[in-house]
Amino acid sequence: MSTIILNGSPKGKSGNSEIFIQQFIKGMKTPCEVKYICKEEPRTLAEYVRGFDTIIFVLPMYIHSMPGVTMRFIECLEPSEPSENKSMGFILQGGFPEATQYKYAEKYFGSLSEELNRNYLGTVIKGNSATVYMMSNFMTRKLFRSLRRLGEIYEKTHTFDKGITEALKEPRELTGFTLKMMKFATKTGLINVMWDKPLKQNGVFDKNLDRPFI
Ligand SMILES: Cc1cc2nc3c(=O)[nH]c(=O)nc-3n(C[C@H](O)[C@H](O)[C@H](O)COP(=O)(O)O)c2cc1C
Repeated sequence: MSTIILNGSPKGKSGNSEIFIQQFIKGMKTPCEVKYICKEEPRTLAEYVRGFDTIIFVLPMYIHSMPGVTMRFIECLEPSEPSENKSMGFILQGGFPEATQYKYAEKYFGSLSEELNRNYLGTVIKGNSATVYMMSNFMTRKLFRSLRRLGEIYEKTHTFDKGITEALKEPRELTGFTLKMMKFATKTGLINVMWDKPLKQNGVFDKNLDRPFI
């Protein structure tokens, strides 16, 4: 059974999706091929991946959905024949901590697999991942262990382990003390520091409440 991993981030090798991929394939005895959507001509890549039994997308959440480069590529994919028994799965990571934020993208991936006549392996969701690239070994230890194990089990069974997938989804929704802390941080403006910095650097901070599509 052949598998190809597609990195769906516009940042390619320098993004967090790549860190997820490297951990996932570390768990495998024979790591599978990885391609970078942002580096490829979409039609050529779509033709190339057609031959693989399974496509695994590892991608970030951008604006409650997927990056434009990945969307453009997905539009080039052709359905396989039902008799070919092909599959596809998704590993989706993003900044928002709550897994419920990712449910629309998850739903879309399920429908997409159906449309492309590929068995849906599911969507592994991991929030709170925007800072993975700068976290210490101690902070990433548990996540990386789960991703390696996910890769190891995938290689053996061609499925995403249910237990690991469910555990990575935590927290599904912020409640209690964590929610109170988050609300407090929002009020003080602390939560916006990371977002405000690039806006200020680019001289557009005063436009941060603009709604250009309305
Ligand atoms: C333009 C942009 C939009 C984003 N939108 C979301 C979002 O809607 N939800 C979310 O959870 N994270 C969002 N994020 C955070 C990214 O998902 C997160 O930083 C991720 O780890 C980036 O992965 P990458 O480095 O592989 O691109 C956004 C980041 C950027 C740059």
